[in-house]
Amino acid sequence: MKRRAHWMIAAITLATAGTSASNHVLAQAGAPALNVHTTREKDLIEPLLRVFEGLTRVKLNVVYLTGDPSARLKSDATDGKVDIFIASELSQLVEAKNSGLTEPVGNADLIDRVPETWRDSEGHWFGLTRRVRVIATARERVKQTAFTYEELADSKWKGKLCMRSGLHPYNVLLTASMIEHKGAEAAEAWLRGLKVNLARKPTGGDRDQIAAVQAGSCDVALVNTYYIGGLQRDNQGENQRQSG
Ligand SMILES: [Fe+2]
Repeated sequence: MKRRAHWMIAAITLATAGTSASNHVLAQAGAPALNVHTTREKDLIEPLLRVFEGLTRVKLNVVYLTGDPSARLKSDATDGKVDIFIASELSQLVEAKNSGLTEPVGNADLIDRVPETWRDSEGHWFGLTRRVRVIATARERVKQTAFTYEELADSKWKGKLCMRSGLHPYNVLLTASMIEHKGAEAAEAWLRGLKVNLARKPTGGDRDQIAAVQAGSCDVALVNTYYIGGLQRDNQGENQRQSG
């Protein structure tokens, strides 16, 4: 039977894991190696992978996936070419598990160290990093400093909201959490409210929404935290990075 892949959200787990993936490493002759597929950005994840290699003497054969990873993942995983998947997005992990590509990891350290909320109930994946979807506002025009996602559907924001496509995974996940917390009916009403409040048809990535707030096209925008950090860095004269 073809070996299935182990899937995790971040590589650092490997350093502490006595998973069957590392048992596989020990069973190999010669220099131990693991095949890693990742959708994380190379610049961000590579330093961590190098540290792992230095600490463990396990060589990592890394494939950086760009665009929609599902087809390549599916084919490589079913061919037994993937030991670990380091995802940039929860939806990728769920999809991989639902496609039958993963198998459970019963490692006690992992279960101990990653709270139940942040891992798969059957041990197919473990979350080690997270990001938050926050509301960026125009300081001069919006005095309010605390927000809920729910209130973005309130009529007081009519014509003032900017966000990227509702079909992008960032927004799909937010909608999923709204369904989970409030129920499908309330989530649908919320989405309808958001649509009414849009200042413009959703376009571009999260950075474009922040730029639109800055340009005065809207007052509030829904974005991931790290884009704000990225823009602050760019404003300090460092290299521009493309929106993800
Ligand atoms: Fe992103």
